[in-house]
Amino acid sequence: MGNYEPLGLKPAMGWNSWNTFTWDIHEQLIREVADRFVSEGYKEAGYEYIVIDDCWSLKERDAGGNLVADPAKFPGGMKAVADYIHSKGLKFGMYSCVGTHTCAGYPGSFEHEFQDAARFAEWGIDFLKYDYCFKPRHISGELLYKRMSLALKNCGRDILFSACNWGEDGVYNWIRESGAHMYRSTGDIRDNWESVKSLALSQLGKQCYTGSFCHNDMDMLVVGMYGGSNSDFIGRIGGCSDTQYKTHFSLWSLMGSPLMIGCDIRKDNPITKQILQNPHLIAINQDLEARGAYRIKPEPQWFHTDDVFMLVKVLTDGDLAIGFFNLSDSQRELSLQFWDLGLPYAAGFSLSLFDCWAEQELGVFRERYAPVVAAHDCLVVRAKLVR
Ligand code: GLA
Repeated sequence: MGNYEPLGLKPAMGWNSWNTFTWDIHEQLIREVADRFVSEGYKEAGYEYIVIDDCWSLKERDAGGNLVADPAKFPGGMKAVADYIHSKGLKFGMYSCVGTHTCAGYPGSFEHEFQDAARFAEWGIDFLKYDYCFKPRHISGELLYKRMSLALKNCGRDILFSACNWGEDGVYNWIRESGAHMYRSTGDIRDNWESVKSLALSQLGKQCYTGSFCHNDMDMLVVGMYGGSNSDFIGRIGGCSDTQYKTHFSLWSLMGSPLMIGCDIRKDNPITKQILQNPHLIAINQDLEARGAYRIKPEPQWFHTDDVFMLVKVLTDGDLAIGFFNLSDSQRELSLQFWDLGLPYAAGFSLSLFDCWAEQELGVFRERYAPVVAAHDCLVVRAKLVR
């Protein structure tokens, strides 16, 4: 096996065209994103997949029933795009759908699963996002994801399978068995605080359903978009504050979601880059054991609403990643008693805390730690047990 890392071992990291560009995608854009991955440190930080979402094909298959890339958007064809991305040491992703059509009305892969998988392999793709629109009602989504999974696993190429059924139809109960490497657990994200907050809260009770080879995908990141989508649905105006983007990235990192950038990284500012490339947060997200995070309510528990909580992720080396999240609209003190981590006073250990955003040591604490966190903000620490 040598250095071979199996597909889906860790949450995928990459970029996806949908949030910002929706239908307005073309070859040159994808090349520029690939260039930027290399020149601006994204590749170095761990981002790997460049994914073209919906709207890449013609509206009809060819006479042989094959999908055809839109020649106006991709004049050189998909193989050339794949070759370019591969020449940069990156991986290439595309999009299709379980139904007769994609969500934007392009041909879907229903009853063409094995044919399309073969075509994707020919083009040299490494990742397939598989959506849930226009699904014939007489057949279960579970079976259709199993079909494409089997087709991809037998197409002669390693292709990471990214299921996207928005958490519908009890997906938690069957997706791991289907063979998918990641699965969308939520409806579409929008570039505003309410959306980020509600997606995160919706998955707090679902952390037992994420882990290696089948990661809970909370949707693409909106970090750095600032209302820059071309779609009103996703949020053409508004956007979030940098604090909110930082909290969003922290939640997705700790909760083990794949990290798929959704902004136009050709126009990123230094803060966007700092957020998306924070090495400590990425290390937490990419931790080998890929455990879900558990939630602790701050003390005194009766005092706090459900949007104020700590998330704790047990890391492979024995450290704990701890996020203090204040999603409420006013400042809060979040008191963490270490016994809630399984660390009673009598054990004789203290915690040495490193602030992952400020990149500084906070000191050594025994029994409890109670930071004050501003509205919509968070503190993420890496905690080490010390005597
Ligand atoms: C669905 C998905 C989105 C995106 C669009 C494309 O809404 O959830 O992520 O892929 O379809 O049409």
